[in-house]
Amino acid sequence: MSKYLSPTFPTTRLRRLRKNTALRDTFRETQLSTNDFIFPLFVVEGNNVKREIASMPNIFQMSVDEVVKECGELLKVSIKAVILFGIPEHKDETGNGAYDENGIIQKAVKAIKTEFPEMLVITDVCLCEYTSHGHCGVIDNGDVQNDATLGLLAQEALSHAQSGADIIAPSDMMDGRIGKIRQTLDAAGFTEIPIMAYSAKYASAFYGPFREAAESAPQFGDRKSYQMDCGNSDEAMREIAQDIAEGADIVMVKPALSYLDIIRRAKDEFNIPLAAYNVSGEYAMIKAAGATGWIDEERAMMEMLLSIKRAGANVIITYFAKDAAKII
Ligand code: PBG
Repeated sequence: MSKYLSPTFPTTRLRRLRKNTALRDTFRETQLSTNDFIFPLFVVEGNNVKREIASMPNIFQMSVDEVVKECGELLKVSIKAVILFGIPEHKDETGNGAYDENGIIQKAVKAIKTEFPEMLVITDVCLCEYTSHGHCGVIDNGDVQNDATLGLLAQEALSHAQSGADIIAPSDMMDGRIGKIRQTLDAAGFTEIPIMAYSAKYASAFYGPFREAAESAPQFGDRKSYQMDCGNSDEAMREIAQDIAEGADIVMVKPALSYLDIIRRAKDEFNIPLAAYNVSGEYAMIKAAGATGWIDEERAMMEMLLSIKRAGANVIITYFAKDAAKII
């Protein structure tokens, strides 16, 4: 019999603790805090550039100077962590812009850390924004080559660390990349830079708006030969276990909303900080329905964020970070 079965009405009345705001606030099991959030930023070349992304209202592609300004705004509302995505001017077959010491991310990290050393700067490590074909690794025979990609990812991670990044976050889903990146960072003396692994990253329709924001849509095919199949849960546990064995300090489930079961299962199974990515499509849905008046945008946002934390996430990457911080 379930431990929750106590057929004692009318002695027990669960409505007693719901009677007013003070009672509900005092006994709420899960609370959101500004420490829960990481805000994504899309960095482009240029100066004074702030271009709104059509499918993500109020989210912008920004040049380095604007990104630095934005970090100041974030700190004012107690958001202390950002994750950076770079959109280079030139793309090529092997994503050279990703590991160029004067690349867009490298410049952005240096600028932010100079102006706001207290800001936690996380960098997304992947090749899709830098390759002309838009895939997350090098292509041969029409598919992404796993082992040939590892060295490039490690080079990218190292160059982010050399620029001053606080945490490295590989999102490519190649096998063995966490180990390769860990070894490379350690060999260069970056033994204390943590890795946040996108461990259970699904081949999801909810990344649509991001690909507009990051200009990273694959030019042929899809990402199903490297990102996970949406029907799999056991496999997510194997992905996470492998990343932990290879040296991940934080593991991630992505997307969040359609994968709350995976978040809960990962939290129960592994004793390690867990991140969830509240992705672009999840943001766009709430924004669109809010704009038409079909839902109460603010309440829906807070309920969604709370659900991700309640499911077991310790930290949430979300485009709503600033909006939610203002309410909290
Ligand atoms: C890069 C990457 C993607 C996202 C984060 N890192 C896109 C993808 O895999 O196609 C998606 C984030 C979002 O949708 O908000 N590989």
